Amino acid sequence: MKKWTVLLLIVSGVFAITWLNFEPQIIATEPAPAAAVAADDDDDDALQPIDVSMHDLMEGMFQAPYRRLKVAMEKEPTDGPAWKALRSDALILAEASNMLILRKPETDVEAWIKYSVDARSAGAEVVKSAKKQDFTASKAAYVTMLDHCNACHKQFEKGKHILKP
Ligand code: HEC
Repeated sequence: MKKWTVLLLIVSGVFAITWLNFEPQIIATEPAPAAAVAADDDDDDALQPIDVSMHDLMEGMFQAPYRRLKVAMEKEPTDGPAWKALRSDALILAEASNMLILRKPETDVEAWIKYSVDARSAGAEVVKSAKKQDFTASKAAYVTMLDHCNACHKQFEKGKHILKP
């Protein structure tokens, strides 16, 4: 009888080990099919810009964070929440610049994309520097970002809306 008990323990031990080995695998492989499906999706169908004019887009998505950021950049934030607010507005502008690539103009598409990518990259740099609470680097990247915003305004808006840092 004792022999059977030992055998039973061994069998359940092997079973437990096998199960433990399997479980993480099940968890690890689960997200893969979903990700594969997403990657197969046609991005052009999934990503649809909201139907507003360029004017309403700039006014609605860019103007408010720009105005807040301009104030935030006047002097170094003194606490965590102030840094967080600065970072948030920089991120909104960086991601909004990204979305401009979905709204290509009829002509000069390459220039449009370049200004958008450059503004996005500089905006991302503000976010990164602000995360480290490095005000000098944040401010420098912010000024660079505005240069790129303005470069687009110069070409596509005949120099209107030149934004001051
Ligand atoms: C790829 C081109 C492009 C980039 C990059 C760009 N803008 Fe603009 N922006 C425009 C155009 C076009 C208009 C004019 C829209 C209109 O009034 O028809 C405009 C207008 C504006 C206005 C004026 C809105 C109003 O009330 O009339 C603000 C503010 C503005 N942009 C902020 C920004 C900021 C901040 C950035 C950078 C983070 C930026 N833009 C980057 C194309 C761009």
